[in-house]
Formats: sequence, C-alpha cells, structure tokens
Amino acid sequence: MVVPYKHEPFTDFTVEENRQQMLAALEKVEKDLGKEYPLIIGGERITTEEKIISVNPAKKDEVVGYVSKANQELAEKAMQVADETFTTWRKSDPKFRADLLFRAAAIIRRRKHEFTAHLIKEGGKPWKEADADTAEAIDFLEYYGRQMLELKDGVKVNSRPIEHNQFHYIPLGVGVVISPWNFLFAIMAGTTVAAMVTGNTVLLKPASATPVIAYKFMEVLEEAGLPAGVINYIPGSGKEVGDYLVDHPRTRFVSFTGSREVGTRIFERAAVVHEGQKWLKRTIIEMGGKDTIVVDSEADLELAAQSIVQSAFGFSGQKCSACSRAVIHENVYDEVKARVAELAAKTTVGDPHDNSYYMGPVIDQAAYDKIMSYIDIGKQEGELLAGGEGDDSKGWFIKPTVFADVDPKARIMQEEIFGPVVGLTKAKNFTEAIEIANNTEYGLTGAVITNNRAHLEQAREDFHVGNLYFNRGCTAAIVGYQPFGGFNMSGTDSKAGGPDYLIHHMQGKTTSEMF
Ligand code: SER
Repeated sequence: MVVPYKHEPFTDFTVEENRQQMLAALEKVEKDLGKEYPLIIGGERITTEEKIISVNPAKKDEVVGYVSKANQELAEKAMQVADETFTTWRKSDPKFRADLLFRAAAIIRRRKHEFTAHLIKEGGKPWKEADADTAEAIDFLEYYGRQMLELKDGVKVNSRPIEHNQFHYIPLGVGVVISPWNFLFAIMAGTTVAAMVTGNTVLLKPASATPVIAYKFMEVLEEAGLPAGVINYIPGSGKEVGDYLVDHPRTRFVSFTGSREVGTRIFERAAVVHEGQKWLKRTIIEMGGKDTIVVDSEADLELAAQSIVQSAFGFSGQKCSACSRAVIHENVYDEVKARVAELAAKTTVGDPHDNSYYMGPVIDQAAYDKIMSYIDIGKQEGELLAGGEGDDSKGWFIKPTVFADVDPKARIMQEEIFGPVVGLTKAKNFTEAIEIANNTEYGLTGAVITNNRAHLEQAREDFHVGNLYFNRGCTAAIVGYQPFGGFNMSGTDSKAGGPDYLIHHMQGKTTSEMF
C-alpha cells in the first residue's frame, strides 16, 4: 500500500539552516559546470561531435554543460530501440512501473537542493521558483505512480449472466516527448514519466536551452531501476530531430509542451499518415496563454495588485500561466493601476544565484530580443508605467514592465510575449470585463478578484479558461490539486497533474467472454 498523495512542501529559505544547505548545494553544482553529456540510446552512452551548449541565462559566459546533439540517424536508431523495447515493456507490471516513479521521487527528495541549485543555474530561476520546480517534479512522480495503480485493473463495466465483460487501458506504443525550458525539471519529468508509467517507450527530446537537467533525470531513473531502452535521451534540433520523429510512421503519440507556433506545427504534421503507418497519431499538446486577472469594483484591491504583480513577474513572466493582462473595473482602475506601478517599480531583478532578487533573467537572446520588441510595441500602444528597459550585457535581464490604458485588442493584449510584461485595461462593468478576458485565442488560466458572490458564479460559467482562480493569482497550479491545461489555442486540454492525464497515453480495450 502506498500512503495517500500529498504535494511536496516548499522550502522556507528564511530559515537559516535551509539557506545554508542551498548555498552548499550551489557550490557543489558550480563544480559540475561545463561538463560533457552524451546521448542515451538503449542504455548506451553516445557522444557526438556537434554539441548543444547550455549556458546560465544570468551569466551567459558560464557554460552549464556541453550536450551531445542527435541527428536523424541517431533519432532513427533511438526509434528502433524504443520500438523493440516496447514489445516487452508493454507487458511490464504496472506496479513495477509505479514503484520506479516512487523510487525516483525518493532519490530526488534526498538531493532536493542540488537539483534546485541546478535549476537556478540552467534555468535562471530564483530560489523560490527553482524550489517549486523541483517540488513539482517530485509531485508528478508521486501522483502519476498512484494514478497508474488506480488504473491498472481497468474500469468497471457491466456484465450479464454467462457474459463477463472487462475494460482495460493498454499502452499505445512509442511516444515522442518534447519538453519545454520553463519548467525544465517538472514538465520534462512529468510528461516523460506519464508516457513511461503507462507502459509506453519514450524518445525524450528536451528543450535545447535546458538539456542538462534532463540528463540528470535520466541518471535518477536509471538509479531507480529503469531498464535500458525504455526512455531514450536524444536532445537535438526541432527542425532536424523533432520533425523527423513527429513524422515517423512508428511514432504512436507525441507529447509536447511549448509555444503555439511549434505546437500547431506538430499537430499538423502528426495528422499526416505516412507510408507504413498503421494508426492515427495521438497528440497531447500544451501551448501558450494570454492570461487575464479581472478586478471587480467590490474587491480587496491590495490582493488584486499583489496577485497581478506576482502572477506577471514570477519567473520573469515565463510561464504559460503568467498574467499578461489585467482587466479592471473603472471605479477602482486608478487605485489598482497606481499600486501595480508601485509594486512593479519595487520588484528587484538580478542574478538568482543571490537570493535577494525577486526576478532573474529571461532564458536566452532570442527571448530577450522578442520581449524587448514587444516593449517597443507597448510604448506605442499604452502608457509605460514601470520598467521598459533591458540589459543583455552579462545575462538577459529585463525590468518588470507595466503598460496602462491599453486597448484590449492591442497586440500586447493579444499576443503571447512570454516575459515580464503586463498590460492594464479598463472595463465599464463586470460583464464587459469577462468579455474582454475571453477575447483572445487562448484559454489557459484566469483569475477573478471580487467579493461579489454573484460575479464569482458568473465567472465560473462564462470565463472560458482551463484553470480559473478566484481571489488569488493565476499561476502555481499544484499537481493533484489543480489539474493544469487550457482551452482553445492553449492546447488539447490534457490536464497535467489531473485524474485523466494518464489515460491520454493509453487506449481502452474491451474483452467480453462467454462462460
Ligand atoms: N503549472 C504551472 C503554473 O500553474 C505552469 O506550467 O503556473
């Protein structure tokens, strides 16, 4: 019997002992920087000439690791290994697979700060955000392990006299998992183990900005007893390796988390049936958001301002759940606007190695350039209230930026920026506020700050997002508590950390026997 699921607690770094442990972990991780990492195919370590260079976004001349880069030939080799391994892995005991996840969770928990320190370096995450990422990785392992135990005997269906019916979920086949850099540990680990614990074999292509954490996770899984060939680690370029595997006739499903552009491309490519392909590929796709906090006239305005600022600037706004628009009732607009400006101006930015800053860098040069260009657009579209500046001399730092009085249809209110930029707009009444909140092509998260019960109920019905929060910010879903995933162009609404997530990685089989 396993104990009931409970989410991993966050670390309180104001406790001196925890702070010291974290500093020691950072020192340990710094000694490991700049190492080389091979591919892992069928348990074999393969080193290639061409490398992906992972750098610390806060200090771009600090190399986190040199990672071997797969090409199409190696991707094909990995596919053959995964395909072959599936013939045995599909019959493995679900309890063995669940135990593997529980052991991996225990290994990570014992070395928790070390992983967190790595995320600070490779992801540019402030301590608090990195700690939450590690905790979420543990949560996914603990939660999906338990979910598999619940699903392993199938779901009850009815039988009739002399007829015995059963309904079971069986695995799909080889899954291609393409993971993002923003939750470089949690989402990478969660999407990988969901595919594996359900009896599939996996080709893991982590984000090119953060491939080292995925290698470290492979080591954890191996230590926990993962057989060779079940998960194959093949970092590489999306165009070369990603497209090749998405198109491959032996690929049974693709699990992707990342941008709308790449997600749409994968969805379209996966729909094409190639020669020799015997199935329609399944896609599990989580894309972006243009997430809104609605502030009503009868509301705790301090809570509103704090929620907007924290949801907009936590991890530099690089969460698909981040608040990038606030729609505020005209009666309280000026007050909320002034407080948001004040809080944003006080939000500190710097190298997250030092825990005194609220915000770290953005992930890379391309992200920096894109966000800065949106800031230029914002200067045409609204009043710059705070921030608006960047500095990419040492790392990719951008000040928390707030634009006020922006038209809801303006580009910065419609397009995902994925950086520390938030736009404020005014609504005449609550109904109009919800209409504005719904007027993007996305539908991931949203929050409503109000003390009006009728308005909460109205939002519950009409605010069309996958994750709707009342009287709090719109980020920080917890595995097993707030299943996470969005509507419309935010993805396939496959709720990560939710009770039906694993089922997306399986197919139902009915057997009916006459006695
Ligand atoms: N699950 C994260 C959040 O809720 C986003 O991926 O913020």
